Amino acid sequence: MKRMEGRNQTPIAEFLLLGFGDGPHLQPLLFMFFLVIYIVTVAGNLLIVGLVVTDRHLHTPMYYLLGNLSCLETCLISTLLPRLLASLLSGDRTISVKGCIMQLYFIGITSTAESLMLTAMSYDRYLAICNPLRYAAVMNGRVCCQLVAGCWMSSLMTSTVGMFFLFQFTFCDSKEIDHFFCDFSPMIKLSCNDTSTLELVTFIIATIWTFVPCLLTLASYTCIITTILKIPSHTGRKKAFSTCSSHLIVLTVFYVTVITVYMVPAGNTPKVLQKIFSVFYTVLTPMINPIIYCLRNKEVNESLRKALKLVTFRHRHRNLTDKF
Ligand SMILES: *[C@@H]1O[C@H](CO)[C@@H](O)[C@H](O)[C@H]1NC(C)=O
Repeated sequence: MKRMEGRNQTPIAEFLLLGFGDGPHLQPLLFMFFLVIYIVTVAGNLLIVGLVVTDRHLHTPMYYLLGNLSCLETCLISTLLPRLLASLLSGDRTISVKGCIMQLYFIGITSTAESLMLTAMSYDRYLAICNPLRYAAVMNGRVCCQLVAGCWMSSLMTSTVGMFFLFQFTFCDSKEIDHFFCDFSPMIKLSCNDTSTLELVTFIIATIWTFVPCLLTLASYTCIITTILKIPSHTGRKKAFSTCSSHLIVLTVFYVTVITVYMVPAGNTPKVLQKIFSVFYTVLTPMINPIIYCLRNKEVNESLRKALKLVTFRHRHRNLTDKF
């Protein structure tokens, strides 16, 4: 109760998201930077979804999960960047308290679902490589559907519980959030209620939702790698590894950035650096995922080539018919 002394107790209805400071030269540059990132991310992920839906060669559980991950990443980045872009363009940095909670809610759903979906994908690879005889029996369209639904449902449930608590709170300390989106801890600091219970509960839930998927993924990949190393022929090893290497790269980027954001001590690091880490963590994985799959994964790459050939062929064909 001590921390409430000397606080202004009038509830506020709006926050000020400080973003990246207010240097006048910086805003247009940041706007261009995030606009390019947003376009590349959405286009890349929609391309993957399009390929998975249209190409029959990609109608397997592994690519269904990839297509769903791409949908999810489009949602995730769309909860963050459009608002940031609008505020960089207009210079209006206010956001209503309700709007802020809603943004946090959607970020909570999509980022939890993302970590669960990456885990589901490693489970799929685990079955395919460590248990190939059971794979066809266990992994079918229905199980894949259940995995996807499970990811969405459980992240929806946890985030809804969190949002229910947050809506009970009043905010009355200061309006300023020194961040570029409504994140949990900067926001909760501005509450004038006793937040210790909520902070504890959120910490426990976040730890469970981060470390359990992380451990399951690690276990899957330990098994996958030991199995691959036991394959006697060089080409066999290469072939087995090629089906999971793209996923492994995406996983590494995801966990390295998450761990950096959480492990870097908040007190000692400059605020700017913290924000840059947050950009990496929220924006980098959705952006590089389609790029890595298009460049590195043989089947996606081939499907993309075929699609491109089809487009250029039609284009040439139309040019010819226009001429005659
Ligand atoms: C998502 O997963 C479901 C269930 O496996 C699948 O039917 C659907 O095609 C997937 N969606 C995309 C865009 O890949």
